Amino acid sequence: MSKEISVLFVCLGNICRSPLAEGVFRHILDEKGLSDRFRVDSAGTGSWHVGESPDHRSTRSAATHGVTLTGHARQIQPEDFHRFDHIVAMDQSNLSHLQRYLEGVGGEVTLSLLREFDPQGGPDAEVPDPYYGGPNGFEEVYDMVDRSCREFLDHILEEDGTGE
Ligand code: 4NP
Repeated sequence: MSKEISVLFVCLGNICRSPLAEGVFRHILDEKGLSDRFRVDSAGTGSWHVGESPDHRSTRSAATHGVTLTGHARQIQPEDFHRFDHIVAMDQSNLSHLQRYLEGVGGEVTLSLLREFDPQGGPDAEVPDPYYGGPNGFEEVYDMVDRSCREFLDHILEEDGTGE
């Protein structure tokens, strides 16, 4: 039996991008029959929306692709750096915040930017914050999150030695 792999997706508010990434990643795991091998969660660097459900625009965009978003917003905690193998940031600002945090709390976690794994992205590409934009922003975000999550999964399975 192989070891559990744990992944935490992080954005600013934990209501738009990271709950979407969490839902999409869970959906892909489900498609591939890999859900039992993973623990997946999301969190925000900020505390403004703690306790709220995902933004209805993220929920709607996910639903059009058959993906259900669950959970309530929470703020990242020091323990998260010890409880997860991978913490995946949506943008550079989230990543800098996580890097500073990690220097303070320590931990063996791997930090990355989600769109490092996007075939249409690159090392510095970000998932833009759609909060103040229109619904098209959410659809674009959905596509980049889906592309990136698929490649991210292949990457960690390969790293784990169980790649397809
Ligand atoms: P998220 O989007 O980081 O993708 O959840 C945001 C949600 C709320 C705010 C900013 C970004 N806000 O400023 O309240």
